[in-house]
Formats: sequence, C-alpha cells, structure tokens
Amino acid sequence: MNKNAMEHIETASVDELRQLQVERLKKTLNHAYHNSTVYKQKFDEAGVHPDDFKHLEDLAKFPFTTKKDLRDNYPFGMFAVPQEQIVRVHASSGTTGQPTVVGYTQHDINIWSDVVARSLRAAGLSSKDTIQVSYGYGLFTGGLGAHYGVERLGATVIPMSGGQTDKQAQLIHDFKPTALMVTPSYCLNIIEALEKKFGSAKDCSIKTGVFGAEPWTNEMRKEIEARLGIDALDIYGLSEVMGPGVAMECLESKDGPTIWEDHFYPEIINPETGEVVQDGELGELVFTTITKEGMPVIRYRTRDLTRLLPGTARTMRRMDKIVGRSDDMMIIRGVNVFPSQIEEQILQIPQLIANYQIHICKQGHLDSLHIRTEMRQDSSPQLATRLANQLKSQIKTMVGISVSVEVLNEGSLPRSEGKAQRVFDIRQSA
Ligand code: DLL
Repeated sequence: MNKNAMEHIETASVDELRQLQVERLKKTLNHAYHNSTVYKQKFDEAGVHPDDFKHLEDLAKFPFTTKKDLRDNYPFGMFAVPQEQIVRVHASSGTTGQPTVVGYTQHDINIWSDVVARSLRAAGLSSKDTIQVSYGYGLFTGGLGAHYGVERLGATVIPMSGGQTDKQAQLIHDFKPTALMVTPSYCLNIIEALEKKFGSAKDCSIKTGVFGAEPWTNEMRKEIEARLGIDALDIYGLSEVMGPGVAMECLESKDGPTIWEDHFYPEIINPETGEVVQDGELGELVFTTITKEGMPVIRYRTRDLTRLLPGTARTMRRMDKIVGRSDDMMIIRGVNVFPSQIEEQILQIPQLIANYQIHICKQGHLDSLHIRTEMRQDSSPQLATRLANQLKSQIKTMVGISVSVEVLNEGSLPRSEGKAQRVFDIRQSA
C-alpha cells in the first residue's frame, strides 16, 4: 500500500462501516466474556451474554467499565490474554489513589501504530516529514504512542520527549522538523523559548502541530497558529482505550476530531442516567474497543463531555471539541463552569497570555473563583488593573459568574511541560 494513501475504510459507505462494527463488536464481547474474569462477572451480574448482541443498539444492554474497575484490578487484572502475550504496559498516574495500568499485545501495538499513522496522514503529513515528538516518553502513552505512529508513516521522528524547553527550541532551529506533536500548553512554552532565543517563532520550519492530551479551545488554536505560523490540529485519545490516535482532526475540514470508528466504537450517554443520547446531543463519551486483544474495554466511561457529529472529511463520525471532563466541572453559586470557558474569555483580550490558573476559594460559605493570568510585556500597574477589570466583566457577561482577577507580568506563572494544571482547589487550605 502507498504509505501516504487513505485506507479504504476511511471513505467506505456508512453501511459497510456499521457492518464491520457489528462483526467486530461480536468478537470483542465474546473475547472479553470468555477471557477476562472481570467481564465474565460483570456480564453475568448484569444478566447479559455476548449472544444478546445482534445490532449496534444492543450494546446499551451491556454494563459500563469505569476507572474504578481498572483500579480494583490493579495492576494486571483486566488483561484478557496470558501475560506472555503482553509486550508493553503503560500507566496513568491519576490524581488520587492507584494508577491505572493498560497492556498491549503485539497486534494491539501494530493497530495503535496504524491509527496514529492514519492520524498523521489526516493532518496532511507524509513520509517526507520530520516530526518532533515532545509528548513525554515513559508510562504516559503520549510519547511512545506518537513515536511508533511516526515510524509507521515512514516519516523521520525526533524523539525529544517533554521538558528541556531550551533544547526543544534549539533542536527545532537545528533539525528543522516540519511538524510538532505536543500538548498545546507546552507548545506555548516552546513558542516563548523560540521567540526569546531566535527573535521569532513564526519563521521556524514547523508547518503542522498535532496537539492533544488536554482540553484546548479554538481561541487557543488561533493563538498558536498565529504565533507559530502553522496549522494546529486536534488529536484525542486516552490510555484506557489505546492512547493518542483514537480520534484525529482532518486538515481539510479542521472541524473536530474524526473518531477512528473501525477500532473504537463511540456512544454518548447522559452522565446522570447512563442512557444513550442521540448524535448531536451533549453528554459523556463512552468507548468500546473493537479490535483490542490485550485489554479490551467495553463501554468505558471517559468522563469527557462532548457530542457526536456526522462525518465530513471521512465516513466516520466526529467528536466536538471536548468541553471539559465531568470531574473538572466547577459549580460556582449554582452555575456550571469549565476551565475552557475561562480560557476562551482570556484569549479574547489580545494583551493577555494563554497561561492561567483558576483557584477555587471560599468566600464566606460560598465558593468563588480567583483567576490568575499574565499580560504580554511588563507594563504599568494601571494596564494590569484595566485588563483585570475587562476580563472580570467579560466573564460576568459571557459565563455568568463574578470572579476576582489578577493580571501578572509575563513569566510570573509556572509553565507546563506536559498536561497543564489549570485548576487549584484551595478551599481546604484556606
Ligand atoms: O492523554 C493520550 C494522548 C496523548 C492523547 C497525546 C493525545 C495526545 P491519558 O493520559 O490517559 O491519555 O489522558 C486521557 O486526556 O480522557 C481527556 O480528558 C484528555 N484528552 C486527551 N486528548 C484530548 C484532546 C492521553 N485532544 C484524557 N482534547 C482524556 C481534550 C483531551 N482532552
């Protein structure tokens, strides 16, 4: 196959895709039931059997999988093949408690490499490109997941990993990569280093950015595209399902990641009731892996809030930009607020930088938000006060909550080297 050509299934008819999904789901449900004691027990308790699955809608009869299932079966209890067939493990640290561990067979690694290569092709990249991977290598799936995909594409990989920001900028200058794979927040950090070291970031060799692993807004996309002079595209994934490359935005449409539905079957549910909702409705994204051997997951609740949209550049459906994770939602005086809504407002003000922190504090008995952000260059305290007031009133109008705002000089807040921590809950410590 021509390495740069699209695969047949990417543009096959919807009927062909649905038929493939039914076949693969049948196989996966049987594999999980017969080879994983966890799924055997879960299905038996729910009174369902793989034979009950005949049509795609039947999937809704099967029980969900959650992060708790992975934690309860730490480290390898969710694996559905003998240990000798597992060739790699990854783990995510999580903020509390046990890390969650995932395992892959060689076949799984091959498919993962294929979907990342497919994702890079969707970004307009080919074997002619040189791609700097600045996602962290190690237990996190970002670095190695991206790396194997670049190799599968036949492009040149620069396995830089995260951190050493000055060196990131130097290698971009010296090795002239045409694409960069990194979290959007760390990309901003690299842009600052390029600007400081070489006067400008816009003139560098990079033409395409493949950004994910954390929520980011279209305002952030515009900011990065302007400062780096690139096309910035969204890649989505999670370790429990595979890693990066579960979904990828296509260059020609730039309208949200296309879900590689021939490997990952998506549903959107109402997070409160667990009911499946219609395409187009906002809810929690749920995935069933339909080709994975080592650790299949059935109806895994991602906690990511989004909606399913019809296919455009490909047959497969797209997901809208993630609004946030249900665990990141803040309820401030009865109003639901996500960090992405604050980010959108910060980036409406050209003098402000997309580096910010949201502190949840207590004012009397009520929760309130304190926003800390930075302005572009050292300027007078008067400007800081004016910008703070402007942001405050924008958030009041657009998000509907009163917040306090502090505008600091550029470089005052810590920089991210991977996934940015935006929200700090200081209610207990206050
Ligand atoms: O972050 C995998 C990945 C690596 C994706 C590199 C893309 C690029 P986890 O560490 O398990 O895996 O975290 C998964 O990160 O449930 C989302 O909440 C968030 N996330 C990942 N990609 C995006 C994205 C990797 N494009 C969790 N937009 C997911 C918004 C994202 N959130």
